[in-house]
Amino acid sequence: MSHQLPIDMSLPREERLNSLREPLRALLDAETLGWSNLANMASALYAATSWHWIGFYLVDEHHDNLVLGPFQGPVACTRLFKGKGVCAAAWQTAQTQVVPDVHAFPGHVACSSLSLSEVVIPIRNGAGRVAAVLDIDSSALNDFGPGEVRALEAMIEDVERVWPSWTWGA
Ligand code: SME
Repeated sequence: MSHQLPIDMSLPREERLNSLREPLRALLDAETLGWSNLANMASALYAATSWHWIGFYLVDEHHDNLVLGPFQGPVACTRLFKGKGVCAAAWQTAQTQVVPDVHAFPGHVACSSLSLSEVVIPIRNGAGRVAAVLDIDSSALNDFGPGEVRALEAMIEDVERVWPSWTWGA
């Protein structure tokens, strides 16, 4: 497996995201350790885009909150709590959240004052429960087009397919 995914930076961002799907799927199929796969995914998405922060929060069933997982970008909040913010909304509703202006989202959690818009996509485990979310923050307002959201959701569908086979201890 090559150590660099092929990303043609001359393409529009939506096409770059679409072109990542196949190589990412191959990467995910080659490894079952969840942490490694999420880390590579955050890296690939970060390299392919100009987004400010890209990463995963995992559902901590024991504490009933979200805990920071692999990410790229500035240091972020370690825990996110029910009923507060966009990640929690994606977790609790099991629906993608597209927020064009985070300041207009009631209860938004500001880990970074540079984040102005965001998208959060829930990841379901084999039992259909939300096990994690992909959180992407942009330093530009309204920075997530419908085609980009679809491309990200397609990648998360690929993750959901293999999630039940993943392990979490090396
Ligand atoms: N945007 C999230 C908080 C996490 S960070 O910004 C990395 C939220 O509102 O849930």
